[in-house]
Amino acid sequence: MATRNDPNLPFEAQQIRVSTDSSWELNGITSVLTNLRVLLIISGGIAAYKSLELIRGLRAGGAHVRPILTKGGAQFVTPLSVASLACEKVHSELYSLTDESKIDHIRLAREVDLVVVAPATADILAKMANGIADDLATTVLLATDRPILVAPAMNSRMWDNAATRRNLAHLQGDGVMTVGPAHGELAEGEIGLGRMAEPAQILAAIDNALGGPLLGLCAIVTSGPTHEPIDPVRYIANRSSGKQGHAIAGACARLGAAVTLVSGPTAEADPPGVAMVRVETARDMLAACLEALPADVAICAAAVSDWRPAEARAQKIKKDKSGAAAAPADLKLVENPDILAALAAHENERPRLVIGFAAETDDVVAYAQSKLVTKGCDWILANDVSPETGTFGSNHNKVHLISVAADGQSGDAATVEEWAYASKLDVAARLAQRIAYTLGSAA
Ligand code: C5P
Repeated sequence: MATRNDPNLPFEAQQIRVSTDSSWELNGITSVLTNLRVLLIISGGIAAYKSLELIRGLRAGGAHVRPILTKGGAQFVTPLSVASLACEKVHSELYSLTDESKIDHIRLAREVDLVVVAPATADILAKMANGIADDLATTVLLATDRPILVAPAMNSRMWDNAATRRNLAHLQGDGVMTVGPAHGELAEGEIGLGRMAEPAQILAAIDNALGGPLLGLCAIVTSGPTHEPIDPVRYIANRSSGKQGHAIAGACARLGAAVTLVSGPTAEADPPGVAMVRVETARDMLAACLEALPADVAICAAAVSDWRPAEARAQKIKKDKSGAAAAPADLKLVENPDILAALAAHENERPRLVIGFAAETDDVVAYAQSKLVTKGCDWILANDVSPETGTFGSNHNKVHLISVAADGQSGDAATVEEWAYASKLDVAARLAQRIAYTLGSAA
């Protein structure tokens, strides 16, 4: 299960003492900060002194701070100041014999809920944008699958430089969140845009990023096609791109949910801040979903193959000596497990809300209504995938939301809502909002 603030993870266990700092004005954002595990990367800029205050604010709100200080950062603040305020060891070396044996960079990258880079210099932004990993901080940034928030700080000319603009746009496209910079006096006595956001603004940005209406809830999302092997080189698949499922996972994560995205093979990038489980077959997808329980909501957007070859041959099936293929004549199929139905019928851990998709080429709403009954789910998002709509692989979708009627009955009594033709990202955002509203009102 993807969990935020999992008390079993070692990060908290290493926390020596809890802050009793009450001098911080947190303006009601403590619920997001409570037990939040923050990896704070301090890179080399004069604004690094403000990161000491940021550590105080984070800890006053109940967050656990694990610091990484770059070589440049250590020119501005000392490891001792950072460690004293964070009550945590400061990590700096990628190849440290003593550190690597205790905690490697992959663990540093994963055992957190959020990575904050403050200050983020032009240099570290450039490295992040280009996937360069040449020290501990940049290696961790490349290895993490957690949300990343950067607080840029630099001279205004560097901020305005086309290369920095390009790098930042690239990072934002990758889902990296930014706060600041602000306009004001810069280190060299110049006035301009480039001052790091104040610690209170960074805390507010964290609240904004993580404090959505799904905060504290867990979601399982399935996405993409499945591949059902015939032999080591051939498989049965379908045209699903995974775009809609991935967009839903990203939208739920943006609203604060802890999301496990169980995906078949797709070319889609991992949405920021979700726990990815990559699978090939329907059976593996089911196992991964059951493993991810308990969850508050399950959204089955995957195009699961209904059948699989009864037997996946261990060797590639050859043509016979006459050149005729031996495969098609004896390709026997057996039915795959239905993941959506299995989650909806789960005896002890049925998610509060189970949502399926119905991709139909005709009579879309009618088929979807009957699917609501046969699958035992609460909502069906029905979409028309007839070739003329071009839905498969496209960035847009036209859906109907069909939900069990208030009296618990479905079929004809179900509520049918037609959603306007929209991008898959917008459909995902609307669905995530609706889930938040529904689970919020049911709580
Ligand atoms: O039965 P059909 O494939 O039309 O149902 C579509 C819905 O059921 C989708 O939500 C899909 O993710 C889910 N499904 C599933 N496991 C299957 C088949 C479909 O979860 N084996």
